[in-house]
Amino acid sequence: MARAQIGLYGLGTMGSALALNLAEQGIDVALANRETERFDPFLDEAGALSERLHAHLTLEGFVAELAVPRIVLFMIPSGPPMDQMIARIAPLLAPGDMIIDAGNADFHDTRRRSAALAEKGLEFVGMGVSGGEEGARCGPSMMVGASAQSWARLQPILERIAARYQGDPCVAHLGPDGAGHFVKTVHNGIEYADMQMIAEIYGLLRFGTGRSPTDIGVLFGEWNGGALQSYLLEITSDILQRSDPVTGHPVVDVIKDSAGQKGTGRWTVIEALRLGQSASAIEAAVGARSWSSEKDTRQAAETILGGARLALDLSPEVLADALKAGRILAHAQGFRLLTAAALEYDWSLDLARIAEIWRAGCIIRSALLDDLADALRAQDNGDAEGHLILAPAIAQELAASVPALREVVAAAVHAGHALPSLSAALAWYDSMRQGFGTANLIQAQRDVFGRHGFERLGQEGRFHGPWWG
Ligand code: 6PG
Repeated sequence: MARAQIGLYGLGTMGSALALNLAEQGIDVALANRETERFDPFLDEAGALSERLHAHLTLEGFVAELAVPRIVLFMIPSGPPMDQMIARIAPLLAPGDMIIDAGNADFHDTRRRSAALAEKGLEFVGMGVSGGEEGARCGPSMMVGASAQSWARLQPILERIAARYQGDPCVAHLGPDGAGHFVKTVHNGIEYADMQMIAEIYGLLRFGTGRSPTDIGVLFGEWNGGALQSYLLEITSDILQRSDPVTGHPVVDVIKDSAGQKGTGRWTVIEALRLGQSASAIEAAVGARSWSSEKDTRQAAETILGGARLALDLSPEVLADALKAGRILAHAQGFRLLTAAALEYDWSLDLARIAEIWRAGCIIRSALLDDLADALRAQDNGDAEGHLILAPAIAQELAASVPALREVVAAAVHAGHALPSLSAALAWYDSMRQGFGTANLIQAQRDVFGRHGFERLGQEGRFHGPWWG
């Protein structure tokens, strides 16, 4: 007899944690997994929670366990595996049943799958889940792209398992089809920039001011008690104070300086470029990860080009303010991108609500998001078009902190310290605050070699310059 309110396919790190969270909230969960040998150790680990966890060796048995209309949640790698699983399970489902993709999917795939399954009377939900294993187990932030009727069915379940910020569940229905996965993609883009900026400030403190990892970790811990509070700064403070159990050295010094990336940051940049938006601080973070992966080249280059990084005399206070300015600008680029996507895809994204559900559970959770939520709620996006840097409260924060960012970028440039993301953020800010820039020269150049024409200030129509004849 059908016992389970929801089925969960995929008992990897995130899927296992989410299953335990659901069971702990009193929800009966049917389980399926590609490797069935995973069930025994998982159910042992689940202890008393295993009473609500019903494992099945076959997809048919898994589906039969589900109360109708069925809800099946997949936590599997994005891309072809999701299409393969849809092809296998759709024939076992009936109109009105729901498939949820809770992985880090490309939102274009989600829009495609949603349309294709709607023709079969099946609901497809694209849900971004953020918070890593701890979040999935104890309360993630969830970004849902679904129909209204799917959201009505899911809301009670998701609000029980979500993280809470002052009692407010960090889950929201953000729009149809790909809206949830798109917002998660931008979350990850901001995550990349946040992580990169912390790493850049760490580099200045370590290789510019000569502080030890432990001292920097203690300093980051102090910063984490104030306006810079964030999950990422908190874990970085802890990382920097850890010693490698094998060598006794700071653990950060035994880790290869070559960053991985599963691709969500890259997707953010691709979408920004498609939408004609700036994500320069995010792009710099993605680029920095790619450059870091060329370890052998960098070691050779240090010999040929010289790797000198000169000492820096920058106070912790200035560095903290520089990080604050950089983070605000990176978030501002992310939210501007969300605005542009909402216009492009006809989503009515509630930017303030997105900032609110990122205040707990997710990887970019931080005190800044509460300020951004307030600013977004107060802002009439009509005139500011989702530009957080134009919100009065944020503009004031930037006026107070950008001088420090400027001082730090200038000092770093002169001393040979690379600040890809922080310097990109400053360049974007300085570009956006110029009412009259230099793109007129670009227009003239394009007209000379491509006869593309240009607009004249204060006049309608297209013109050409006096270059020929
Ligand atoms: C989250 C994280 C997570 C992330 C992976 C891999 O919100 O929980 O963003 O979804 O995708 O940790 O991230 P990388 O892109 O850095 O490999």
